[in-house]
Amino acid sequence: MSEKKILRALRGEVQPVPPVWMMRQAGRYLPEYRATRAEAGDFLRLCYNSELAAEVTLQPIRRYGFDAAILFADILLLPQALGRELWFETGEGPRMETTTSAAEVAGLRPDEAIHETLAPVYQTLRILKRELPAETTLIGFAGAPWTVATYMIAGRGKEEQAGAHRLKREDRATFEALIDRLTGATIEYLSAQVEAGAEVIKLFDSWAGSLKGQDVQDFAVKPAAKIIAALKARHPGLPVIAFPREAGAGYIGFAGATGADCVAVDNSVSPEWAAEHVQKEICVQGNLAPHHLVTGGEDLIRETRHVVRAFSKGPHIFNLGHGITPDADPDNVQRMIDAVREGG
Ligand code: CP3
Repeated sequence: MSEKKILRALRGEVQPVPPVWMMRQAGRYLPEYRATRAEAGDFLRLCYNSELAAEVTLQPIRRYGFDAAILFADILLLPQALGRELWFETGEGPRMETTTSAAEVAGLRPDEAIHETLAPVYQTLRILKRELPAETTLIGFAGAPWTVATYMIAGRGKEEQAGAHRLKREDRATFEALIDRLTGATIEYLSAQVEAGAEVIKLFDSWAGSLKGQDVQDFAVKPAAKIIAALKARHPGLPVIAFPREAGAGYIGFAGATGADCVAVDNSVSPEWAAEHVQKEICVQGNLAPHHLVTGGEDLIRETRHVVRAFSKGPHIFNLGHGITPDADPDNVQRMIDAVREGG
């Protein structure tokens, strides 16, 4: 088997120095990212320009030597490939044509048709497979059906899961049909990413925390379990990281119920809690609060060491609790990595 540190952690190995990468490591806090995005024209053009998307994926690897590179793309490219309009308002985030009726769900393009739109994403992975250092793990990803559905239903993000909750309540059949279509399409999309060179898959369920009670089972656990089972049947041994963000107590048992090899935790739970309740079951990824990369100083070093130490008795991938923000200082990222690699 491979000696890459990320793959060893995902197989359950406890390492004296954990592997490290960061959500949104290719992003606006890096001047070289901003320059390449300007060259591409805008964010979406960057996602669909394979050469430039590979370039921004590689930038943080060159600068910091992270143990993993994550494909540069977005979770909303899949609904776009299913035929729904997507655009980004500067400073405000994504906007989508809304999808709320039975006719609109039935009118989504068939699974086979998504690959035409998504071909540049697969090409980005092929370039990365060729260009990445031998020790760097290549991570592919998709949004989980619930999170993608919240954007499709509301037509926007942030505090807008209300629309998805309303559709779930008022037109259950349409809501469930949408979740089913997204589950199937996500399997095809991720499977194509693996064929193009992704070694690990991460499933982002950013709004899992807004699901309560039986809905957690039905719309976070079940779709993830279905996707993971299908991927592992087609690609035996493929490791999968699940990120049911802000799931709280729902993190416990999530890996067992879905078949994930690792659970990524946000910073609303303490590393000690996650070590006790989640890491005893499975590899954990996380969970430094992203604001430390803005504020830096002694707090950054102390908190980085705290996370490393709290998770040192089990399999761990060091990461943030959510994506790095555009106002982070690139030098603080280096300080964080040094603190991780000095052994906490
Ligand atoms: O982690 C990585 O660096 C890989 C690439 C990646 C992006 N988005 C690039 C991106 C990944 C894995 C995502 C996932 C994603 N996209 C999620 C799930 C993770 C999370 O953050 O909760 C969600 C909800 C989206 C949808 C999305 N895309 C939003 C809400 C936004 C706007 C918020 C923001 O940060 O501006 C985006 C835009 C986006 N996706 C950017 C990047 C680098 C910033 C766009 C820019 O350069 O202007």
